[in-house]
Amino acid sequence: MTDGPRYRLILFGPPGVGKGTQARLLQQRLGICSIATGDLLRDEVARKTDLGLQAARFMEAGSLVPDEVVIGMVKGRIRAQGGCGAGFILDGFPRTVAQAEALRAADIGIDLVVYLRVSEEAIIRRLTGRKICPSCGRVFHVEYAPPADGAHCDSCSAALITREDDQEATVRARLRVYEEKTAPLVRYYREQGLLATVDGMQEPEHVLQDILTVLRQTRTES
Ligand code: AP5
Repeated sequence: MTDGPRYRLILFGPPGVGKGTQARLLQQRLGICSIATGDLLRDEVARKTDLGLQAARFMEAGSLVPDEVVIGMVKGRIRAQGGCGAGFILDGFPRTVAQAEALRAADIGIDLVVYLRVSEEAIIRRLTGRKICPSCGRVFHVEYAPPADGAHCDSCSAALITREDDQEATVRARLRVYEEKTAPLVRYYREQGLLATVDGMQEPEHVLQDILTVLRQTRTES
């Protein structure tokens, strides 16, 4: 690993593999910042900014927001989080080779790309059962991580909602987009020696332990 931030990590994989769940656990465990492009875009949409108005129609259809929009947003956020001494996690970025190349061109180094693997059947179950808190962003699942009262956030008591793009037809569209536009990054990062595959089918805490093991190995080897 190089000088500077201690962890510079990409959480990678198709929709619903648990990137957001693991980002939150890693944040708590390592004191590390998480930059989730989906969350940033949903915030822009909710605030009806120009960027949000541009992004909304792509997100509703399960397509990718254009590269130039997302790249500008992420670079700005990484710079703004320069004080995040323990490093950062990128969740949901990059999603195309052009986005990965933009990271490289901006000289934003990455130490490890964690590729979470989950079966397609499990992904559909996870996303169609997901509930999110519109207030604090906490993620639940009707079966695997239910809220205590079945309807409200355990952290802040807001009424939970279902994401627009978690309808089954849109989930399937997102999976097709992933295969076409994002899956080529597996090879891209493998060829750079940065890719580590982790079994995402386990309980979240076990997935976390495997990620921490890979992180430790990366730090020992560098
Ligand atoms: P984004 O919000 O990034 O969505 P995504 O990548 O499709 O990922 P998700 O948030 O759906 O899933 P996740 O992997 O984080 O899973 P989670 O932890 O929530 O992007 C949304 C849209 O924004 C895109 O479609 C696109 O339009 C746009 N966008 C974003 N980034 C972009 C980019 N870079 N370029 C262009 N466009 C971009 O878990 C899912 C569920 O499973 C939860 O209910 C959770 O409780 C449960 N769960 C998690 N882990 C486990 C486990 N181990 N066992 C059982 N259940 C589990």
